[in-house]
Amino acid sequence: MTLLEVKNLNLWYGDFQALKEVSFSLGEGEILCIVGESGSGKTSILNAIMGLLSKGAKVEGEVLFMGRDLLSLEEEELRKIRGKEIAMVFQEPSSYLDPLFTVGVQIGETYTAHEKAIKEVVSRKVVESMRRAGIPDPETKARMYPHQLSGGLKQRVCIASAIICGPKVLLADEPTTALDVSVQKRILHLFRSMKEEGRSLIIVTHDFGVVAEVGDRVLVLKEGRVIEEGSVFEVFDSPKEDYTRMLLESI
Ligand SMILES: Nc1ncnc2c1ncn2[C@@H]1O[C@H](COP(=O)(O)OP(=O)(O)O)[C@@H](O)[C@H]1O
Ligand SMILES: [Mg+2]
Repeated sequence: MTLLEVKNLNLWYGDFQALKEVSFSLGEGEILCIVGESGSGKTSILNAIMGLLSKGAKVEGEVLFMGRDLLSLEEEELRKIRGKEIAMVFQEPSSYLDPLFTVGVQIGETYTAHEKAIKEVVSRKVVESMRRAGIPDPETKARMYPHQLSGGLKQRVCIASAIICGPKVLLADEPTTALDVSVQKRILHLFRSMKEEGRSLIIVTHDFGVVAEVGDRVLVLKEGRVIEEGSVFEVFDSPKEDYTRMLLESI
């Protein structure tokens, strides 16, 4: 079943067109990877889906989530979906953490923004999602402030926050970039287990290792346009475009 369908998405920042007729769909329990050079529009696609574009941006097309066009929803409706049904792990997520609150409190807030729960349940949820995101000793880490944690841990805090409501769709923007190999493995394991639960993921990545390990399908983006799309096997084995071949060779 198709969970998310992006149709003829065009996006402008002022006069500059960042996305051109982007269309793709995401099935239930599917992991779609988006690859492309820096500046090709990967983050813009995710932000458009989340309804998080900057003020000057103009967007056209459709983003159908379970049949509803997210682009035409009111902010209030969108807020109910965002974080709960569709969650995002941002590129350089650490900058989204508030230095004044413990990470446990911040992860918990994502949960209580959508669910009514007593304190004990929230704490349990927080620790559970931190553990799933590969954070060792989550009970202790939950009581720490962002500055007390390494970049890699902060990244995992953001992943914990993104998964705490059990989203149907997770958008992850270069989620493993700052992480060392063993932690990367843990995150990829998390993604696979989410897939097994029937959740769907869009992973933006430079790392074809990530694509090979967890991806079902790949979308290749160049200058805001989808130039190639196929199963991971097809795209790796017989890339149709020189650009894709170049991306594959660059690693
Ligand atoms: N808020 C913005 N205002 C103006 N231009 C932007 C904005 N965000 C991104 N861009 C431009 O849009 C293009 C695509 O950016 P982005 O989606 O971040 O690409 P990627 O994630 O693939 O690196 C780039 O040329 C970038 O400079
Ligand atoms: Mg980006």
